[in-house]
Amino acid sequence: MPEKAILKLGDKTIELPVIIGTEGERGIDISRLRDETGVVTYDPSLGNTAVCKSAITFIDGEKGILRYRGIPIEQFTEKPNFMEVAWLLIFGRLPSKEELARFRDRLTDNELLHEGFRHQFQSVPVDAPPMAILSAMLSQLACFHQELLSLQDEESFEDAAARLISKVRTIAAFSYRRSLGLPFIYPDPKLRYCANFLHMMFSIPYQQYIITPEIEDALNLVFIMHADHEQNCSTSTARVVGSAKANLFASCAAAVCALWGPLHGGANVEVIEMLERIHKGGVTPEECIRQAKDKSNPFRLFGFGHRVYKNYDPRAKILKATCEKVFAKLHHKDELLDIARKLEALALKDSYFVERRLYPNVDFYSGILLRAMGIPTNVFTVCFAIGRLPGWIAQWKEQHDDPTSRILRPRQIYVGPPQGDYVPLSKR
Ligand code: ACO
Repeated sequence: MPEKAILKLGDKTIELPVIIGTEGERGIDISRLRDETGVVTYDPSLGNTAVCKSAITFIDGEKGILRYRGIPIEQFTEKPNFMEVAWLLIFGRLPSKEELARFRDRLTDNELLHEGFRHQFQSVPVDAPPMAILSAMLSQLACFHQELLSLQDEESFEDAAARLISKVRTIAAFSYRRSLGLPFIYPDPKLRYCANFLHMMFSIPYQQYIITPEIEDALNLVFIMHADHEQNCSTSTARVVGSAKANLFASCAAAVCALWGPLHGGANVEVIEMLERIHKGGVTPEECIRQAKDKSNPFRLFGFGHRVYKNYDPRAKILKATCEKVFAKLHHKDELLDIARKLEALALKDSYFVERRLYPNVDFYSGILLRAMGIPTNVFTVCFAIGRLPGWIAQWKEQHDDPTSRILRPRQIYVGPPQGDYVPLSKR
């Protein structure tokens, strides 16, 4: 007998079906509630609402579990390969050697930007925020690939996905070069995805950047750790935009804007700025914790807390261990890592953080790792976007392929003034 929830409202009783996910999560299906009772549910910030069924990513926030298409993320750390994970997320299973090679070739074919973009880079101020450039330019890809605005078959979808995933790193690297007034370095088709990004970021015309395998692996890992996280703020944005049947470029550009926010992807910048403030002696770690607990102070301990994780974020655990490993291997030292460790230790024994179950999230250690690669702070959130892009694409595709999906259009409870009359300007 399938489980049902019983709702009593006034003198009416209705039965609501309970749907059960693969891992036993239960959701009360209220999709017919308004039709049957005239009332809606009220769930500001959607903390209790599943907006879709999805087969892409599983999170158990209580246990600190994250799986992509059923595979625990820890299993991607041995030989990190971001392209393999991207394919897995988008197409639903691990690729064969041939499929992966074909996808790589598609990325290589699409790594250049239309020369028209050069003028776009020249026209923005040198100190323009890279996330603003990224979102504008992803949106503009639609102007150059109008044949991909409506994706009628699998082939054109794969083409659009490859263009986005390939060009995003070229846009990211070019916007960084522009900010320093350095010449653009074109992609090198011989290099793999992450190595090519590092090459475009750091090579100079007369000196090729030397790629260290540890750094290349660490960048693959950072991108993998960010690749999908089910219905987070930016992914939900991509789905909201995509639900109106807006094209893939527009949906991903909108997601970049959501990711930019300091409560979401922008937190990785805030974390480093917070650690730098401590390092420069502007504030002590103890004072930082005190400020984060003070309800009259808007400051938050960035890189801490999560809507879903009430346990250590497994991505933070992996990135922290990777920092330690890479730093030891390369004999690299960063005092910010020591400060981060100290802040974490202070927070984890403080009753405020313990009671609220606030642990380090993905942003707490990612910036320290990106810094070790030479990536400047203002490109951190852009790196998050490069990593998250396959997730947005996978979620967009899942929604697009679902014949039951409808335009996303929440309801509200109106609390404004009751009906009134318009007063002409002369009488006000
Ligand atoms: N520092 C201090 N207090 C915090 C923090 C923090 N980092 N995070 C949550 N809290 C407190 C809140 O003030 C609240 O306290 P209260 O119950 O006394 O009012 C309680 O913990 C619950 O927090 P909410 O804000 O209700 O949790 P929510 O799920 O809405 O927010 C969020 C989650 C946005 C991640 C929040 O923890 C936060 O602002 N963290 C800092 C920013 C950050 O690191 N963002 C990156 C998240 S991961 C990602 O998007 C990639």
